[in-house]
Amino acid sequence: MRIGKSIQLVLMVVILGFGAWITAAPTSTVPQPANTEKALAEARKVSAELSDKVRGLLVDELGKGGYDGAVKICAEVAQDMTNQFTKRTGHYIRRVSLGYRNRKDIPDKYEQKKLKLFDQLNHEKKLEADYYEVVKEKGQSYLRYMKPVVASAMCVKCHGPKEEVAEPVRKILQEKYPQDRAFGYHAGDVRGAISVKIKLPATQK
Ligand code: HEC
Repeated sequence: MRIGKSIQLVLMVVILGFGAWITAAPTSTVPQPANTEKALAEARKVSAELSDKVRGLLVDELGKGGYDGAVKICAEVAQDMTNQFTKRTGHYIRRVSLGYRNRKDIPDKYEQKKLKLFDQLNHEKKLEADYYEVVKEKGQSYLRYMKPVVASAMCVKCHGPKEEVAEPVRKILQEKYPQDRAFGYHAGDVRGAISVKIKLPATQK
C-alpha cells in the first residue's frame, strides 16, 4: 500500500517536530551531579537502615523461638519503617518482590524489569550491592535506586519451599496472606529488593 504525499508530509512534520521537542527539553530539569550524589547517599543510608533493622529484629525474635513475633517483624516493622521514611522525607521507599507475600510489595514496571535483571545477574554471579540510575518522568528527574535483597538460611524458614516451612509458621502465614507468592526461595536467591525513588531538584539557570 502506498502512502499519499500529503500523509507523508504530515508524518515528516510530526516526526521532526517531536525530535525538536525532545532536543529542546528545558535545561531547568537537568539534575546537578551534586544533587544526584546527595540523593544516592540518602538512598543508600535509608535502605541500609531498613535492611539492618529488619534483619536484626528477625534474628532476635527467631532466637526467642517465636514465629508469631518474627512474622510481625518482617511485616509490620518493614511497613512502618517504609511509611515513616516516606512521610518524613516525601521520598518513596518500598520493599518489592516478584514473588510478593504482601500485595503492597508488588513491583512497578521499572522494578519488575530490574528484579528480573537481578535474578539473571545473580545466576551469573555478577550481582552487585546496589544499582541506581537517573530517570525522567514527565520532565522531572528522579534518582531510582534498588538494593537487591538476597536470602540467607534464616529467611528460608518463612520463604523456603512450602513443604520445608514448619507447619505452625505456614498456618500463621496462610491466615494473613491467602495469596502468598513468597515461598520457594533458597539461600542465595534474590528474595526481592529495597527500592527508593528520590525527586531531584532542577538546576537553576
Ligand atoms: C518469621 C517469618 C519470616 C522470616 C524468617 C523472614 N520473613 Fe520475609 N516476610 C515475612 C512476612 C510475613 C512478609 C510479609 C511482609 C508484609 O506484610 O509487609 C515478608 C516479606 C518480605 C519481603 C517483602 C516482599 C514481600 O514478599 O512482600 C522481603 C524482601 C523479605 N520478606 C525478605 C526476607 C529476608 C531477606 C529474610 C531473611 C533475612 C526474611 N524475609 C525472613 C516473613 C518472614
